[in-house]
Order: sequence, then C-alpha cells, then structure tokens
Amino acid sequence: MEAIARAHTNIALIKYWGKRNSQLFLPTNSSLSITLDHFYTETKVQFSDQFEKDSLLLDGSQATDKEIVKITAFLNHVRNLAGTKTFAKVTSVNHVPTAAGFASSASGYAALATAASKALQLDLTGTELSALARQGSGSASRSIFGGFVEWHKGENEAGTDSFATQILDEKAWNVSVLSVVVEAGPKSVSSRDGMQRTVETSPFYDGWLATVEEDLKLMKEAINDRDFTKLGEIAEANALKMHATTLGAKPPFLYWQSATLDVMQKVMELRQQGLEAYFTIDAGPNVKVLCEPENEEMIKEKLAALSSVRDVIVCHPGPGIQYLSDWNG
Ligand code: ADP
Ligand code: DP6
Ligand code: CO
Repeated sequence: MEAIARAHTNIALIKYWGKRNSQLFLPTNSSLSITLDHFYTETKVQFSDQFEKDSLLLDGSQATDKEIVKITAFLNHVRNLAGTKTFAKVTSVNHVPTAAGFASSASGYAALATAASKALQLDLTGTELSALARQGSGSASRSIFGGFVEWHKGENEAGTDSFATQILDEKAWNVSVLSVVVEAGPKSVSSRDGMQRTVETSPFYDGWLATVEEDLKLMKEAINDRDFTKLGEIAEANALKMHATTLGAKPPFLYWQSATLDVMQKVMELRQQGLEAYFTIDAGPNVKVLCEPENEEMIKEKLAALSSVRDVIVCHPGPGIQYLSDWNG
C-alpha cells in the first residue's frame, strides 16, 4: 500500500495549448517534447484505512485545501481503477521550481500516477500510465517516457486513445537544452487558466490550430533525420505562435518579461553570428535554448553574461519514470 516513484519534467517542442474536454484533459492538438535529465520530482504515496482524507506534503509544506481538491480528484481515478475508497498520504519533493513554467505539473503528476498506481498494485502499461497521468496535468502524459515523446491527441471522447508514446529514447540523439532562469517564482496565470482563456476568447486561436499539426509532422521528420536546424526552426516558430495567441485573449496576457526578450534577442544575435541556437518558452518567463552539445559551453557563457539572467542550467534528454525503493526526499 506504499510506493515511491521519480519522474522527470519535459520541454515541449510542439506545444500542447488548449483542451477539447477539460474534465478528461483531452487536448485540441497533439504535442511533442524532450524529457529533461536535470529536473525531476520524487513522490511517495501511502494508502491506509487510518486516513480520513487525502493529504499532500510538497517540499515540506502542507498543501492548501485547493491543492487537496486537485489531488483528491486525481487519486479518485486511481482508486476507481483499483476498486478502493482508501485515502492516501502523498509526500513529494520537486527538484524543479514549482508553478514557474518549468513543468513541475508534468513531473509532479507523472510521479504521482506512477507511485499511486504501484501502491494499489495496479499493473499498468506505459500507455495506460500515460493516459492516467494526463488526467492530473496534460503535459504529465509525456513525462512517463524518456527522450523524445509524442502525446497523441486521440480521437475518441472517452480519452482511451489520448496518451503519449516514445519516438526516440534518451540515448538516441543528444540535443542540449539550456534552461535559462530569469525568474523562478510562481507565474500569475497558470497553464490551465491561460490555455482555457485563450481557447474561449482569443481570435488568434484558430491560427494556432491551422498550423500545429503540420509543425508536428515536420518536427517528426526532423527527429527522424536528426536534422537539428529543422528541429530548432520549427520549435522556435511553434513557441512564438503559441505565445501570440495569448495576446488576443480577453483579458489579454503575456508570459514574457523584459528579461525573456533579452534572452530571445541574444539567441537570434548568436545565430546571425553563426552560433546555432533556437529558443522555446513554456507558460512562464523562462527560456529554454536548444543547441548542439559541441556549442553548449560557449552559448551558456554568452547567455549567463546577460545581466537579466540568474542562472543557466544545461540539460539533455533524460529518462522516463523510475520506481524507487528508498525515500531520499
Ligand atoms: P508548471 O510550469 O510548474 O507546470 P503549472 O501551472 O502547469 O506550472 O502547474 C503547477 C501546479 O502543478 C501546482 O500548482 C500544483 O498544483 C501542481 N504540482 C506541481 N508539483 C507537484 C507535485 N510534486 N505533486 C503534485 N502536484 C504538483
Ligand atoms: C505551455 O500540462 O501544465 O507548457 O493540463 O492544465 O495541467 P494542464 O496544463 P499543463 O500545460 C502545459 C502547457 C505548455 C506547453 C506544453 O507543455 O506542451
Ligand atoms: Co504545467
């Protein structure tokens, strides 16, 4: 009735941006990401008849009632699969900033889905685990697997075919992802609220939908051909299109800060000077810079020299979920 799991975060090269069914976390478009070696979550789940409700201790602090509602809704899916009503005590440590655009919801719910299903002795396959993790946070569906991962949006409205699969494992292609920290505090608009507001109110959202599946197709070709230039160009353009949709929302919003623009402009400048790098940005002000491993030290130095940059963390493709026997959190 107890299990521990680790899951890594991921950075989307083709963004998940919008749900067609919010309750089941069914996306409007398929997406593609790289699981990152450096950032991860470790979660322990204990089920016991002694507990009168679910609880969550995250990074040493008891979660708020609002957080507990989310955790309970998610654990209810796991309990339904196992045919039990027993409550759980969840203890989790994020080795990644929480709610700051570093995808803590991805590693957080992938680790929770993995540990909770193991604790209840559900013997789930990778795709079943991915579909389960999806119902905690959409991006968590991709963190079940390592390397390059695609989340298929699925066709049916029950959500049984909306899960991720691995395209390449983490050793197959070494791309560098420099995580440029400009602000590690929580964002003011969560990914969930931001995408919902955009879907409901932005006239630019149709423009997003018009090209995202083509971007995905080209990205898969780039990965298949190990074509870094194509990967970078498509990832950067796709990220800019996603962020453009937020400007048309009502009320409008923008995840960028001036420091975000400093990094974006620096990347474009480096490219003009012949140093190949591309940026992508999730729902937050921090930037991920894509480059080839032979250039990572040089590009890291150039980015770290910007006065608005607090830190540059070098990441590479990382592993999928792991079951742990000891709790180090
Ligand atoms: P992020 O960019 O970090 O993914 P989101 O707004 O998507 O930001 O999600 C942040 C939310 O994810 C948190 O407010 C919390 O509800 C949830 N979360 C983050 N880490 C964990 C964790 N380890 N266990 C459970 N839930 C988590
Ligand atoms: C911009 O998975 O955090 O990072 O499903 O509502 O929990 P919920 O949202 P979340 O959204 C991630 C949005 C994104 C793009 C991406 O990771 O694909
Ligand atoms: Co998230």
